Amino acid sequence: MTVKELSCIQSGVPTARYKRIVDAFAVEIRTGRLSAGTQLPTHRDLAAREGIAVVTASRVYAELEAMGLVSREQGRGTFVRDLALPPGHGIDQHALTADAVDLNFNYPALPGQADLLRQALRELAGSGDLEALLRYQPHGGRDRDRAAVATHLLSRGLDVTPDRVAVVNGAQHGLTVTALATLRPGDVVAADAVTYPGFKVLAEALHLELASIPVTLTGPDVDALDRLCRCRPVRAVYAMPTLHNPLGWVMNSKVRRHVIGVARRHGLLLIEDASYAYLVDSPPPPLAATAPDITVYVSGLSKNVATGLRVGFVVAPRERMRAIERAIRATTWNTPALTAAIAARWLEDGTVARLEADKRADATLRQTIARETLQPLEQLAHPASYFTWLPLPDNARADRIAATLATSQISVSTAGPFAITVNPPQAIRLALGSTTLSTLADALTTVRRTIEDDVCR
Ligand SMILES: Cc1ncc(COP(=O)(O)O)c(C=O)c1O
Repeated sequence: MTVKELSCIQSGVPTARYKRIVDAFAVEIRTGRLSAGTQLPTHRDLAAREGIAVVTASRVYAELEAMGLVSREQGRGTFVRDLALPPGHGIDQHALTADAVDLNFNYPALPGQADLLRQALRELAGSGDLEALLRYQPHGGRDRDRAAVATHLLSRGLDVTPDRVAVVNGAQHGLTVTALATLRPGDVVAADAVTYPGFKVLAEALHLELASIPVTLTGPDVDALDRLCRCRPVRAVYAMPTLHNPLGWVMNSKVRRHVIGVARRHGLLLIEDASYAYLVDSPPPPLAATAPDITVYVSGLSKNVATGLRVGFVVAPRERMRAIERAIRATTWNTPALTAAIAARWLEDGTVARLEADKRADATLRQTIARETLQPLEQLAHPASYFTWLPLPDNARADRIAATLATSQISVSTAGPFAITVNPPQAIRLALGSTTLSTLADALTTVRRTIEDDVCR
């Protein structure tokens, strides 16, 4: 990503004149200040108002139409569209048709995992403690399950006792109970200018206020976070130090120390999301290892084992555990005992460690395919990650590209769902983990061609 594009993420202001006008309209429409059905000025009036040529005014409206923000009606004029997002562009999960290629959501699975599940269910059926699985469980999970997670976390660089672990219903649930247990409506939470969409959904649902931290190539701009904390009452920071989704960074030790220093200075809680951390070979220690008293660590088994398992975990300072367990009680009572039991078996017998090694190799291969197939397009990705971020060339428009790809049955995400800034950068995020390898290469070729064609439009 170029410095200019990074500054676009931070300020949301691209350079070309007509684009500035497009983006200003986009903000007005997306924020609802220009409501659905509003008639926009004629091309001639817009040209006079902005001091641009009529042909440029036409181009502005053409862009807005391609972005799905306005509709042009023959003989009547240009009107703001109703902004129900078309499928694939929003943050809500949607059903794809059977033949669609999903480059939007990541649910990495390897051949043979269904057999592993069959085998685990068979073993469980013969195991003798089935009756126990029919009852309510302790909110934070059974002792055995918590202990299995604690042992697993040693491989993540975290040495914790099982009483500081709570088993939850996936990392998203882990983030939810963390927020419920530690924050109140109206609290300000700082998060990267582009971040995991599920955290945005959560903040919206719990009425938390998200404050945007500008991003650099190697992590958040920590000095900017420091300044933010001086002028706003920031309570917590949501961070992905090891394999940021979607930008792919792994914060080095210096940046981590800096984040912790700012957090201590301003009394912040650190919410560390390590959902993709297993893909990184020997990263620096998690924030939760260096600053265990101010960090809640959240991760899960979705990306390294299977999304359908819905098992995750939270590691928190001991004094926060009661509140976390209460939040679990308020939301699910306990994580289903059946999936937790399967997860514990797989953690204990080495299956998770094996799957992680295999998925690291799989993700690295997919990333190599992406790098080769998408060049010469600019890509921002960790070499072993299951996603890539494509900052678009000048003139290309993400909404238009996503819409074109949708007609070829390829689902991708624009920057919109990831952006905290009002005006999302022009970028496409591709999930590489959910399709077969051969389909992946073909789909990426179509993505590259579609972007190249869009630049010339
Ligand atoms: C960064 C990040 N955190 C949390 C989650 C939620 O994962 P889970 O399926 O464990 O709820 C995801 C899923 O995509 C993610 O990318």
